[in-house]
Amino acid sequence: MSENLDTVTLKISRHCSRVGDEASVSGKSIERCRARQGSKLAKSSSIESIGHPSTPILTRRAGVRTWIELDARAAGRNVLAFRRLIGPRVKLWAVVKSNAYGHGLFAFTPLAAELGVDGFCVDSLVEAKALRRAGIRQSILVLGHTLPERFPEAVAGHIALTASNFETLEELARAPAAPEFHLKFDTGMRRQGFFPSDTPRLLRRLKARPALRPRLTGLYTHFAAANDLDDPGFTQAQMREFLRTTAQFARAGYGHLLRHAAATGGTMLGPQYHLDAVRIGIGLYGLWPSPRLARQFQGKLQLEPVLAWRAVVSEVKWLAPGDAVGYDLTERVPERTKMAVVPIGYWHGFPRALSGIGEVLLHGRRARVLGRVSMDLISIAPAGRARPGDIVTLIGRDRGATIGADESAQRAGTIHYEFLTRLNPLMERVVV
Ligand SMILES: Cc1ncc(COP(=O)(O)O)c(C=O)c1O
Repeated sequence: MSENLDTVTLKISRHCSRVGDEASVSGKSIERCRARQGSKLAKSSSIESIGHPSTPILTRRAGVRTWIELDARAAGRNVLAFRRLIGPRVKLWAVVKSNAYGHGLFAFTPLAAELGVDGFCVDSLVEAKALRRAGIRQSILVLGHTLPERFPEAVAGHIALTASNFETLEELARAPAAPEFHLKFDTGMRRQGFFPSDTPRLLRRLKARPALRPRLTGLYTHFAAANDLDDPGFTQAQMREFLRTTAQFARAGYGHLLRHAAATGGTMLGPQYHLDAVRIGIGLYGLWPSPRLARQFQGKLQLEPVLAWRAVVSEVKWLAPGDAVGYDLTERVPERTKMAVVPIGYWHGFPRALSGIGEVLLHGRRARVLGRVSMDLISIAPAGRARPGDIVTLIGRDRGATIGADESAQRAGTIHYEFLTRLNPLMERVVV
């Protein structure tokens, strides 16, 4: 087993590792992490100079059975790809909610900060505060609902909130000191947000509450179906609605507000959707919002998956013909079969829906899950020359072979967003 991780990476990983356990990650260790990541990135890359990926040499992580690797170079190239797409005047915000889409909030966010993104979007104030404690200084916007009793914490942390209904707006008006906030409009998603038709009433409320005026800094919407270049009709309609709304605000003296609408898909659909800022989640992690967009951009835009999930083989054994494997005896091997046991299961985020059909990589080859996925274990075959301690790749590359989060998600009947965000936050994350 080669052990050629450089010392910088090892030091980073030691400090960055237990990202799921928020309480165990001190602000200081994150600062050290950031500094080291910064120097590593500075050493290996101005982003422009990053080369293309070579076949990774898998390296075991001392003392852990399973871990998640973040490829800093891939992240750098993804940031650069989006910078090129949006140009210099549009802000690039990284969406790091849901534990940075499973990549680890405290591992991915400092990396993205070092790579020069302009701000971060999270779902909750809890995440935003954790990022401030970890030393993140860029602007942070909370996309989700915030309880009024927590407004003072947003003020203290210079964290912008979202107001998406009149009740929240009233609570903000009543607060002795209101935090900065953006208004979110529902232009077609039928989820969170004011309707555009609420605008006259909204403007009246804002006029009646002059203290709120300087706290309002942005207007935004979210696209419901921006995932097909050939079928942008619904997105165009949403955009028209949103632009009508922002124009009404501009006429009422709010022309200075930051306007944003596009996530990864909308950003890919065209510059007319970029406005003042884009909120990029899945694309920065190197995955496509939809298979259709992936096909349509083939050869024009390259994204590189940032995350690899690995585990060690814990046991190897020979099964006799007819032996049944796992709970409920759902699968019998027809012949003498060498099988490897891997100490991860649905608790770690390997979906139970992959029972009997999931695939992983072992020695650069595909192996299949035999029988049921258990809570903390899977059995795989063929096991080839596997020995305890060998590395299995659940997501990522091993030699020439790749198994993508999107592929396994599809096999499990879900999407890569869900698969990634369900990766157990307690698993160690390491930047490589
Ligand atoms: C409001 C909002 N903006 C941006 C995003 C990022 O979307 P994506 O990961 O497709 O870029 C999300 C994701 O759910 C979102 O809810």
